[in-house]
Amino acid sequence: MDMTTAIGGLRLRNPVLAASGTFGYGVEYEDIVDLAQLGAIITKGLSPMPMPGNPSPRLFETSAGMLNSVGLQNIGAEAFVRTRLPRLRQVGALVVCNIFGCEIADYVSVVETLNQGEGIAAYELNASCPNTAAGGMIFGVDPGLLRELTAAVCRASRRPVWVKLTPNVTDITVVARAAWEAGAAALTVANTFLGMAIDAHTRRPRFARRVAGLSGPAIKPLALRLVYEAHRAVPLPILGSGGIATGEDAVEFLLAGATAVQIGTASFWDPKATEFVLRELGKFGRRRGLESISQLIGALED
Ligand SMILES: Cc1cc2nc3c(=O)[nH]c(=O)nc-3n(C[C@H](O)[C@H](O)[C@H](O)COP(=O)(O)O)c2cc1C
Repeated sequence: MDMTTAIGGLRLRNPVLAASGTFGYGVEYEDIVDLAQLGAIITKGLSPMPMPGNPSPRLFETSAGMLNSVGLQNIGAEAFVRTRLPRLRQVGALVVCNIFGCEIADYVSVVETLNQGEGIAAYELNASCPNTAAGGMIFGVDPGLLRELTAAVCRASRRPVWVKLTPNVTDITVVARAAWEAGAAALTVANTFLGMAIDAHTRRPRFARRVAGLSGPAIKPLALRLVYEAHRAVPLPILGSGGIATGEDAVEFLLAGATAVQIGTASFWDPKATEFVLRELGKFGRRRGLESISQLIGALED
């Protein structure tokens, strides 16, 4: 069975990717997972300069999910190109770099640095960050701001730009359209949902920042709905992200319209989760006699 899938002009070996921020820079997993067998690995978010992230605690387990407030700790784009990218190329991984910033100029600066590295297949633009120049408004909740950001990054980029949407909006189709019109090659749907945890005994919030991002199986039905709606709204490939942990989860996202899926929180409880989902997805397709896994994309029946 043909497992390849096309994201814009890019052909992936298969539709199972490691999600940003849950797989380090990829190299941390090279003794655990055969990186060359994955559709792609998406690096943790990269900024122009190294960032220390938030104070601990950074993770809190909830029923069927996980809250995180990592604060986008990373070594910076230049150090990534110099110290991590060469190894990823050596082991044959398809590399997508997740990028973020506090202003449009930061995103452009990361892309300009990464443009100089060889062996990056695409950029994934994290639109869930606050824009400090606009009073902390999240880029991805304002269609005008998202359009401006996407257009600026696309202009600066020598690679396809995937836009990763925030799910914390009333209508995903509005922001999906904005990213499409501004030149996105694909959409990732979606990032973590805003949540909160409080310690009943101390009466204190569990995180210094109070609000954190919810991920894992708890958000799967929410993300599935967003993928379904975005798929109907724009003619772009969609990478589904949110609670995917089994082959059947992946199938559900493909049926809802995703062209590929990303495995995030599942890698925290099973470091081989990406390989597991890939294997199960293959089995599912072969058992049903599919010639190509892409036959599942958007094949939801009424
Ligand atoms: C600890 C942690 C760190 C993350 N860091 C990033 C990041 O740097 N950039 C980004 O776009 N998404 C980041 N995400 C979001 C994930 O890539 C993914 O979209 C989200 O967790 C939903 O998928 P899941 O339920 O499979 O984890 C992070 C998620 C977690 C749990």
